[in-house]
Amino acid sequence: MTSSAAGVDLTSRVSAAFREKFARSCSGIARAPGRVNLLGEHVDYNDGYVLPAAIDRATYVAFGPARGASSTVWALDFDAVVTLDPHNLPARTDAHAAPLSAWARYPAGVAWALKGDGRPIRALDAVFASEVPRGAGLSSSASVELAFAAAWQAVAEWALSPMDLALLCQRAENQYVGVNCGIMDQAASACGEQGRLLLLDCRSLQFRTLPLPAGVVIIVADTGIRHALAASGYNSRRAACEEAVRLLRHDLPGITALRDVDLETFNRLANGLPREVERRARHVIEEIDRTQRAVPLLESGDVRAFGGLMNASHVSLRDLYEVSCPELDALAGIARSLDGCFGARLTGAGFGGCTVNLVEGDAALGFVEKLGAAYQDQTRRHAEIYVCAPSAGASVLYAGAVD
Ligand code: GLA
Repeated sequence: MTSSAAGVDLTSRVSAAFREKFARSCSGIARAPGRVNLLGEHVDYNDGYVLPAAIDRATYVAFGPARGASSTVWALDFDAVVTLDPHNLPARTDAHAAPLSAWARYPAGVAWALKGDGRPIRALDAVFASEVPRGAGLSSSASVELAFAAAWQAVAEWALSPMDLALLCQRAENQYVGVNCGIMDQAASACGEQGRLLLLDCRSLQFRTLPLPAGVVIIVADTGIRHALAASGYNSRRAACEEAVRLLRHDLPGITALRDVDLETFNRLANGLPREVERRARHVIEEIDRTQRAVPLLESGDVRAFGGLMNASHVSLRDLYEVSCPELDALAGIARSLDGCFGARLTGAGFGGCTVNLVEGDAALGFVEKLGAAYQDQTRRHAEIYVCAPSAGASVLYAGAVD
């Protein structure tokens, strides 16, 4: 049910493909994981707290220094190659001045952000493939960005902290790819630790890790739904949060983000906000509160109470933030009725994608089977369902010639 065997398989696939394309061994393989978020949804861009884990599904980049000034990147998953010339990066075109395809914007964006940061970058040859499902809310984009950042770091003469690499990749995503995400995904992919959850303060960027309580597993269930409207839905939620801050500033001039408003103060002022803005802001303020309350519960191993907060988070994302969909509601609802399930909620931006479930280890097999069967019954759709082990963040697995 877990995917570590797939990871081994992908490292040999990318290194063999590298040898085939470039007629030499690669000098290293960079790995960067996707992430699943347990609590703290749609709060990273409100300076809140999040509780994600890097997962054991990752992107792998076999790389080596290039002979010339251009980088050549082969995406095995798309069977497509791009050549990146440093001079053409700002125009988002390849070495022949043709517009970059969607996938090529991730490695190009990382190179662009590195250049903008004043980092000397060496051109590299690379082959990459990913086992993080695309568009499923598990941060496949961040995993591609971090894997390339780790590869570029390995061939250059500098080293950034994992959080600085995350910030650089977020800049690539915001300003080059054009997706206005917060810091959670890149931070989780960069700073994850095996077996542990990451508690990140998205304002100070301070973080610490907490163990996943003994005897429970994280299970991810994919609705199979991918919504084209997700980007505009995400942006309009961000805009509503900004509007809430602007309006609340009349009474609370010192605030800069919804993080600065506690629940009691918000309840006192909520009437003055337009109905929709009030609902969006209430989700954020309550979700930040839930995430803070979750920490002592995790530390004391009270998984039942922690799961209760996950369930409440789903309801809030469905009713107040309105980023769920019938299939996510079906998966979360079925999960909650099954034995051994402590909590279930949508994870990531929503509008489709996956739920995250916290399940008693001994009940995991039965849970996976029953959830899949009931979802199929209710929706006539198939859900990919698997156990996810919290994994380490981005790193270079092998340095030196890899055969
Ligand atoms: C996406 C974004 C993150 C975060 C989540 C919602 O995954 O990339 O920055 O905002 O949605 O919590």
